Amino acid sequence: MAPSTPLGLTGGSRAGAGCQLVRVATPGGNYDIHIGSGLLTNPQTWAGLPAATDAVVVSNPVVWQLFGASLVAAMGPRYRRVTSLLLPDGEAHKDAASLQRIYDHLLQHGCDRRTHLVALGGGVVGDVTGFAAATYMRGVPFVQVPTTLLAQVDSSVGGKTAINHPLGKNMIGAFHQPLRVVCDLDTLATLPQRELAAGLAEVIKYGPIQDDEFLGWIEANLGALLDRQPAALLHAVRRSCEIKAAVVGADERESGLRAILNFGHTFGHAIEAGLGFGTWLHGEAVGCGMVLAARLSAELGLVPGAYVERLGALIGRAGLPTVAPAMPPERWLQLMRLDKKAEAGEIRFVVIERPGCAAVRPAPDALVRTVLERHRDGSDAPAVAGAA
Ligand SMILES: NC(=O)c1ccc[n+]([C@@H]2O[C@H](COP(=O)([O-])OP(=O)(O)OC[C@H]3O[C@@H](n4cnc5c(N)ncnc54)[C@H](O)[C@@H]3O)[C@@H](O)[C@H]2O)c1
Repeated sequence: MAPSTPLGLTGGSRAGAGCQLVRVATPGGNYDIHIGSGLLTNPQTWAGLPAATDAVVVSNPVVWQLFGASLVAAMGPRYRRVTSLLLPDGEAHKDAASLQRIYDHLLQHGCDRRTHLVALGGGVVGDVTGFAAATYMRGVPFVQVPTTLLAQVDSSVGGKTAINHPLGKNMIGAFHQPLRVVCDLDTLATLPQRELAAGLAEVIKYGPIQDDEFLGWIEANLGALLDRQPAALLHAVRRSCEIKAAVVGADERESGLRAILNFGHTFGHAIEAGLGFGTWLHGEAVGCGMVLAARLSAELGLVPGAYVERLGALIGRAGLPTVAPAMPPERWLQLMRLDKKAEAGEIRFVVIERPGCAAVRPAPDALVRTVLERHRDGSDAPAVAGAA
C-alpha cells in the first residue's frame, strides 16, 4: 500500500447550541456524528431518523443504570415501543452468546426489518449490536450512542462490526454503517480513569498516522484531557472523528488506506488474544502496540529512535503500558499471523513512514523479535512505565 498522505479534512459543522456535526460519507451510507453536551437527554437528538415502530436499546447493566432511563425518555416518543436488552459487561462477552441473545430478543418481540437497534455503551456493546443489526433479517438500521472515549473517537464510527472468536479478535463481522452516531461528552464524566486512558490510546493514534500537528496538540493538552476538561474533550473527539470519517470515506471496506487505522493493533490484538480477552483493555494493548510498531518503524529505518521515545513518552504519560507482556516470541508471531492484514502467512504491520504518514508493510520475523526483546517485561500485568 502506498503511504498515507494527510487527507483533505473538512471541518465539522454546528447543529444548534451545544452540538457539532461531523459528516461520514461512504458508499454504505452517509450519516452524521453528533458531538456535544446534553445530547442524550435532548429529544432533538432523535429528530430526522427514518420512521420505525420499534426500537431496541442494547446496553450492559453498568451503562444502563447510568443513562438508560434518560435515553429512553428522550427517544421514546418517536417509537410505539422501546424495549431494552442488557448484555453482560466486558470484552469476554463480545461473543456468539451475546449475539444470540440479541437475536432471541428481536424474534421474541416480533421485531421487523425497520426496527432500530440502539447501541448504548462502549465498543463492546457497539460492535456486537452493530453485527446483530448487520445480520438480523439481512440487515436492520442501528444508531450508535457511544459512552466511552474509545467508542466516541473510534469504534462507533465507520461501520466495522464484529464479535470475537476464541481463536482471534473480531474474526466474525460485517461492515454495516449506523444511521447516526451520538457522542454525548457528558457521559465521559463517569468513566473510570483506566478506561479514559484506554480511549486516549485511540486519540493518540490519529497523530502518527495522519496529523502530526494533532499529536503536538495532544502532547500540550494531555493534562486537560486527563482532567476531562470539556473544551479539550470536545476538540479531541471532534478531530479524531474528522480524521476517521475522512479515512473511512476514502476506503470504507479497507481495501487500502483504512488499514492505517490499525496502527499498533497487530501487536495489540496479539496481546489481547495471548493474555485472554479482557486481561488488558483494548486501548492498553493498542497503546503498547503503538510503541512496538513505532520501534519497528525505526528498525526499518523509517523514523528516528527519537520519534519512538516521543510517542512512548506520551503513551506513558497518558497512563498506558509501554512495555510488552511476557510471551514467547513464537507465540507472538503465531498470534500475529492470524491478523486480518496477514497475507499468505506473512504478517503485515502498519508502520510510520514519517510523522503523520503511515503505510502497511511486511517485516522479517527477526526484526519483530528484536522489537519485542527491546520492549520486554517480566510480568503479564499492564506495566505503566513511562517512555520505553
Ligand atoms: N468497530 C471498530 O471500528 C472498533 C474500533 C476500535 C475498537 N473496537 C472495539 O471496541 C472494544 C473496546 O471498547 P471500549 O474500550 O469502549 O470497552 P467496553 O465497551 O468494554 O467499555 C469499557 C468499560 O466501561 C464501562 N462504561 C462504558 N461507558 C461508561 C460510562 N460512561 N461510565 C462508566 N462506565 C462506562 C463499560 O461497562 C465497560 O466496563 C473492543 O472490543 C475493540 O475491539 C472496535
